[in-house]
Amino acid sequence: MESTGSPFPRWQLAILLGTPLAIGLGYFYWRKQQTAIEESVDDVDEKADKKLKKGVKSISIDGDTTLSAANGVKKSAALKDEPAKKKDLSPFEQAVKHKESGNECFKNGKYDEAIKFYNQAIDVCPKDKDIDLSQFYQNRAAAYEQLKKWTSVEQDCTKALELNPRYIKALHRRCRAYENLKQLELCLEDVTAVAILEGFQNNNSLIFADRILKDLGMKHAKEAMLTKEPVEPSKHFVVNYFKSFSQDPVHKVVVTSSEPKGFVRAIKAFKDANYNEVINACTEEIETCEDDSEYKLEAILLRGTFYLLSGQYELSLKDLNTIIKNKEADAKLRSNALTKRASLHMQTDEKNLSFEDFEKAIEIDPENPDIYHHRGQVYLLVEELQNAVADFSKATKLAPKNPLTYVHKLYSEYRQAVNDQDNTKLFAKVEEFSEAIKQFPSCIEVYSLFAQILSDQQQFELSDDYFEKAMKIEPGNAGLYVHRGLLNLQWKGNMNEALKMLEKAIEVDDKCEFAYETLGTVEVQRGNLERAISLFEKAMKLAKSEMELIHIFSLKDAAQAQLNVTKKMGLSLASLMSSMPQ
Ligand SMILES: *[C@@H]1O[C@H](CO)[C@@H](O)[C@H](O)[C@H]1NC(C)=O
Ligand SMILES: *[C@@H]1O[C@H](CO)[C@@H](O)[C@H](O)[C@H]1NC(C)=O
Ligand SMILES: *[C@@H]1O[C@H](CO)[C@@H](O)[C@H](O)[C@H]1NC(C)=O
Repeated sequence: MESTGSPFPRWQLAILLGTPLAIGLGYFYWRKQQTAIEESVDDVDEKADKKLKKGVKSISIDGDTTLSAANGVKKSAALKDEPAKKKDLSPFEQAVKHKESGNECFKNGKYDEAIKFYNQAIDVCPKDKDIDLSQFYQNRAAAYEQLKKWTSVEQDCTKALELNPRYIKALHRRCRAYENLKQLELCLEDVTAVAILEGFQNNNSLIFADRILKDLGMKHAKEAMLTKEPVEPSKHFVVNYFKSFSQDPVHKVVVTSSEPKGFVRAIKAFKDANYNEVINACTEEIETCEDDSEYKLEAILLRGTFYLLSGQYELSLKDLNTIIKNKEADAKLRSNALTKRASLHMQTDEKNLSFEDFEKAIEIDPENPDIYHHRGQVYLLVEELQNAVADFSKATKLAPKNPLTYVHKLYSEYRQAVNDQDNTKLFAKVEEFSEAIKQFPSCIEVYSLFAQILSDQQQFELSDDYFEKAMKIEPGNAGLYVHRGLLNLQWKGNMNEALKMLEKAIEVDDKCEFAYETLGTVEVQRGNLERAISLFEKAMKLAKSEMELIHIFSLKDAAQAQLNVTKKMGLSLASLMSSMPQ
């Protein structure tokens, strides 16, 4: 959950950029839509256009059963009907006959025999008939595929592609071979090439690409987790995080000593945003103070919280568990630890454990609004709106003066009204948001959630105004810049303005993972693949959970694959674009 108070779901970004599938491969998709819009002014390269279209055509008229028309060979009656007089046939004609026999065997499930015919076709075929030859290899690969001889499939497809680099069927088949051979990077390159050559029109390829990206992302994330450094959390993130725990013990302690020690030193470091020092100071309290010291448990809780915020989940769990298991400890401390452990479980994708912890927290401390607030957030995240409304309502009853909880209640009610298509309620909620702004003029979340609702309602200008107001109140909140940039993209299709905002987001908070990730995604759409990759690498350093890493690796791998494919195939992005089917 990020620092503007509400999650900006990734699918929303995907839809906004017009790439509901395989978002990381989005460049061509977005450009295609842009070109469609700018058609009247676009200088289409006619020659490249025709050339590629022709290339694509020769692929689509695939010769599994008929001859390639692109190669100028007519399927003559003589070939088919007259009894074969081998001596009269040219080597090429013989090759075609062998292939047809091979195809016949293939259709009857006699793959070994089919392979023998394809062998003969390849042997006699003149080397200058490259399109046909590539087809023979491709067909033999198809037979090997039936026999699950993946190495042979890969080798034959590679030969076919040497002869005809844009042979979609061969690329497709080779990527299935690579998948079975567990060479996921190469598999991704091939499916990327397929997606590009198909102009992103074929959902099956995109679904396949999505799957490979996810598998590869999981593999890379797992490797990266082994050497992952702790994340230094952003100041805004930390401040907003603790704002959402109104009853956290850190809010109780007042630092009076000029040379504080232990927990009090940790609190001072926390208030001065010296986050590196917080954990050490807590450890000092825990290790050097007496067992009955006033702040020992608070120190364990705070250290566990900072381990959580820096992505050190195992250490965090250890500290939180110490509090939770201590039946002597104050109920407030234990429910706080349980609520935090619940959010840790969400980060590690253990939803059930998360809800169990919320339940336990409510058992111990039923009147604590923080628990309901956080569970409401989780319900929002998983789109269980009715439960979200119930929890935020409960939290609001318990803490009527807390603006954060109140606006989340409004926001979840609004989302529910949208879901139920209840316009009366929807307008009422928008009205209540206007009132909330007057009531809580310094609460950043009121502005930011209202602005998101307005943008959702296509009231872009008003939405922009509220983002601007929010920025004036909290100029260092990078999330606001990201949202406003995306708003501009949606509203005016204004890429430059969006980019400026995203750059600004990084300038005001260079630890905002969301900003790097979003800017990287937009750079992919613009074809700036190298920059996108370096932005994704920065986002990775800030990612806390394996789940986040999987997502960012998918984006990075997709960008890398596009870069590799365009280099390897000698395709310029621009010429490909102009030749894409509109
Ligand atoms: C492809 O998938 C997208 C998103 O799921 C969908 O909107 C679109 O209609 C699909 N296109 C085809 C041709 O199936
Ligand atoms: C999570 O809880 C749901 C409903 O209580 C249950 O159906 C599901 O099997 C549980 N999943 C796991 C992984 O325990
Ligand atoms: C891209 O190419 C590099 C260098 O050849 C290679 O290491 C990498 O695995 C490739 N990545 C992808 C995703 O294709």
